[in-house]
Amino acid sequence: MAKKVNDLCGIKESDTGLATPSQWDLVSDKQMMQEEQPLQVARCTKIINPNSEDAKYVINVKQIAKFVVGLGDKVSPTDIEEGMRVGVDRTKYQIQIPLPPKIDPSVTMMTVEEKPDVTYNDVGGCKEQIEKMREVVELPMLHPEKFVKLGIDPPKGVLCYGPPGTGKTLLARAVANRTDACFIRVIGSELVQKYVGEGARMVRELFQVDVSCYGPFKKGVHCCFFDEVDAIGGARFDDGVGGDNEVQRTMLEIVNQLDGFDARGNIKVLMATNRPDTLDPALLRPGRLDRKVEFGLPDLESRTQIFKIHTRTMNCERDIRFELLARLCPNSTGADIRSVCTEAGMYAIRARRKTVTEKDFLDAVNKVIKGYQKFSATPKYMVYN
Ligand SMILES: Nc1ncnc2c1ncn2[C@@H]1O[C@H](COP(=O)(O)OP(=O)(O)O)[C@@H](O)[C@H]1O
Ligand SMILES: [Mg+2]
Repeated sequence: MAKKVNDLCGIKESDTGLATPSQWDLVSDKQMMQEEQPLQVARCTKIINPNSEDAKYVINVKQIAKFVVGLGDKVSPTDIEEGMRVGVDRTKYQIQIPLPPKIDPSVTMMTVEEKPDVTYNDVGGCKEQIEKMREVVELPMLHPEKFVKLGIDPPKGVLCYGPPGTGKTLLARAVANRTDACFIRVIGSELVQKYVGEGARMVRELFQVDVSCYGPFKKGVHCCFFDEVDAIGGARFDDGVGGDNEVQRTMLEIVNQLDGFDARGNIKVLMATNRPDTLDPALLRPGRLDRKVEFGLPDLESRTQIFKIHTRTMNCERDIRFELLARLCPNSTGADIRSVCTEAGMYAIRARRKTVTEKDFLDAVNKVIKGYQKFSATPKYMVYN
């Protein structure tokens, strides 16, 4: 019975993306299948005499031939552009429908559809960094005319660098939350693929994603965020075996796409790494990633703020001297401070209390900051600061 009910009211949209069974219309689908001929995919390579009555279209059907054809009854000339994928019938090869560009499903998977719930308010300190980031990502989208008037190209990309745990990924998530653009997140290592050329192809498709199919975004505006870009962006070298060539090819494709031989509309590229010194100089050349935003260790004021952010949802005693706590954690990152807060909570749980006291925090500082000093990678990165 339960199965029957489920079938009738339909389960939530399944993983396959199929509509719910209650919305299936098998009869008319069957009828349609009988009436309509299957179409063939072709590419419209050229339009002869565009914008006139007798416009003709050159199509290329892969591995068959090229044809000069007309339009079917159901398409209007404005629908078809040069370079577009189209569906053609199999007898007269007339163009029947325009098709969206082909996008690798693995790229579609990376788009961030559900906005993360991190806002700029959840990022402690980093005022300057937030400002720089917004200038690159938001300003050109909100006021493109300013750049046109001045006659400069808006910056294309930002590289965020700094010690681990200083909020690079966090800030990118806040940007993704705020921006109206389609946001695509790629982890550097995802682009390292099994077969030669796959990684480069994925990069190409990342830059070509037609975002209009993902909802109410402005046409062509999207952000690509490459996290941990050192996985692919390492400096080129010859190891004599050729093992890393593939990785380098992927990086070169990014460089190539950044140069944008074909104008690609409004694409912003964000990258984050904690090893800026290993990146290839070609990637960092001005004109590719113009902006380099450093995420340093937070200062006293920022640390106090980060403490406040992370204790916001905690059940704390009143009048905790966060500034004192911040003073006790010199040279620590946002992630360290978060860990202090969690640890303080653990102390309270162990003592079977419902609120966290200042003493818990002090104990936690002792444990985390002193104890982790052995593992802390921060001193190694101090060279950049
Ligand atoms: N400036 C900050 N303000 C608030 N929380 C921070 C800040 N920096 C780091 N954190 C905390 O540390 C965690 C890890 O930071 P993350 O951005 O992932 O580091 P990374 O710079 O290595 O990418 C975050 O989830 C956040 O809770
Ligand atoms: Mg990160």
